[in-house]
Amino acid sequence: MRLSISLFVVFLAGFNTLHASEVNVPDEKMLVQEARVLIKGYAGQLKSALVQSMKMDGAAAAIDVCARLSPEIAFALGEGSPWTIGRTSLKARNSASEPDEWEHSIMEIFLQRQKNGEKLATIDHYEMTEKNTVFRYMKAIPTGNLCLTCHGDNVAPDIKKRIADYYPDDMATGFKADDMRGAFTLQKILSE
Ligand code: HEC
Repeated sequence: MRLSISLFVVFLAGFNTLHASEVNVPDEKMLVQEARVLIKGYAGQLKSALVQSMKMDGAAAAIDVCARLSPEIAFALGEGSPWTIGRTSLKARNSASEPDEWEHSIMEIFLQRQKNGEKLATIDHYEMTEKNTVFRYMKAIPTGNLCLTCHGDNVAPDIKKRIADYYPDDMATGFKADDMRGAFTLQKILSE
């Protein structure tokens, strides 16, 4: 009797996994975890490169590092995986980081959520899109004091000049501490 019950359990377990893979139910909790781990890596690498170059060579030189490293690190993290990782903003510095329609609307919602009392650092959003084939995740990026050197409303003239050389259409100044500077934006292609 015991044998037949355990056989039945094994059968059920097998049936469940088969069933799950057949209909391809995405595990959203798992995807959110993956996205958060990627963001931790990206934010950590960016910040340490930024702090180090500001300390060693000053903020104007750190612009070069930001311009070169931020897309490079993002690319390296996503390379060879189904993930794409990047940053976007309602007031972008790099026009390549302009939001698409979906990202734009999510950031508007983030601003509203902040107004309603949520802490910006904990605001995020995820959604299955494209008929459950693309998972998208966004996480708000708060402006810290360190960021004001290059994104605040009192940017020093030498830094301003360097920024304008790289980004003639820069919109990313005038921020105050705790403003939403932008958001991390990630996508994972789930199946073809
Ligand atoms: C040394 C100057 C400098 C400092 C300090 C700095 N940034 Fe930036 N930031 C830049 C540059 C340059 C870019 C454009 C990088 C690129 O080409 O992707 C940028 C781009 C960004 C973007 C991508 C969206 C956009 O506007 O193009 C975000 C988000 C961002 N910064 C957030 C921050 C935050 C948060 C801090 C503080 C922790 C910070 N930055 C500090 C120079 C700086």
